[in-house]
Amino acid sequence: MRDAAIVVDAGRIAWFGPQAECPSGEGEVLDAEDGCVVPGLVDCHTHTVFAGAREGEFVQRIEGKSYADIARAGGGIRSTVAAVREASHDELMALTLPRLTRMLQNGVTTVEIKSGYGLTVADEIKMLEVVARLRKLQPIELVGTYLAAHTIPRDFEGRANEYLDAVLDDKVLARLRDEGLAEFCDVFCETTAFSLEQSRRVLTAGKRFGLSPKLHADQITPMGASRLAGEVGAISADHLERIDEAGIAALRKAGAVAVLLPGCSFFLGVEQAPARRLIGADVPVALATDYNPGSSMVESLPLVLSIACTQMRMTPIEAVVAATANAAAAVNRQARLGAIERGMQADLTVLDVPSVERWLYEPGRNCVRAVVKNGVVLHDTQE
Ligand code: NIG
Ligand code: FE
Repeated sequence: MRDAAIVVDAGRIAWFGPQAECPSGEGEVLDAEDGCVVPGLVDCHTHTVFAGAREGEFVQRIEGKSYADIARAGGGIRSTVAAVREASHDELMALTLPRLTRMLQNGVTTVEIKSGYGLTVADEIKMLEVVARLRKLQPIELVGTYLAAHTIPRDFEGRANEYLDAVLDDKVLARLRDEGLAEFCDVFCETTAFSLEQSRRVLTAGKRFGLSPKLHADQITPMGASRLAGEVGAISADHLERIDEAGIAALRKAGAVAVLLPGCSFFLGVEQAPARRLIGADVPVALATDYNPGSSMVESLPLVLSIACTQMRMTPIEAVVAATANAAAAVNRQARLGAIERGMQADLTVLDVPSVERWLYEPGRNCVRAVVKNGVVLHDTQE
């Protein structure tokens, strides 16, 4: 809508329509001038709590090793696990807080964060407690996901099922639910991580304790994980670089959101997920950063949207819907977040450009002028 106005009251969108018809009233005015306003972005798949860095692997890939080669040689996720186990709650919070501040400056108002770099019950809970404490220290809404099944820790080599016995213990899952530490349960279904059968076990166990299933599916090896997504009623299936026609049909039937992570393919230098084929099959597509130190050291969701445009041929409008309404659906928040509509929470990103086309056409510049969260102006570059 051109020349639009939004009225915010008590954190909600009370009215939205043409400026000329805007009801008058008291209160603070934020003039978007010639810019445009989009819903606050939702980054629905991240691993933002981590310690350490893996630039050595970045160079190894340039020299010809693959992500899976590096994982098999004991690098990859396991090297971040060592750093996270060493770090205290306070250290992890100090590392994560500036990342979240920069995400907010990029127009992001909700971020999903997975555990998965602890790989012991205590360290997985530590990661999710860090997420919980960060809720009180900064304004972005944080969504916790239990990803203890990210890979098999070194001390359980060859004993994946015993590892799962420990992290899927009823008492652990009940604690996650009772303390509000996680809403979702995720698994990396991959030859270097968990089999289809083990993934089914993880997601079914989580579901019994109210953790809704998500999965890292069809990233490197097509293993039928998208079909499993349908079978367990997953809210989303994520990655999907190698999804086949049967997988696409399964997602469509399941009504799961396909969360695509173009920053990950960009960073690893591999093929992108088939966004056009998914959209053509009427599967709702969401986009997220997958921000993590191994496969996607990309914290800017707007940059990811531009990559989706140029590398996946998503239109700018499709990309913005994918990072707002569809991303909200991937974290079960579509009734409250991800759209500018009367009654929705007033999470708004004000851009200094006249259109979303103009925004994503400029991936190298931060075009965010201001961010409103829950009706409060949090970040205004003009102040
Ligand atoms: O989403 N695929 C598995 N997990 C992450 C990468 C984790 C890592 O390499 O540290 C991902 O790409
Ligand atoms: Fe991931």
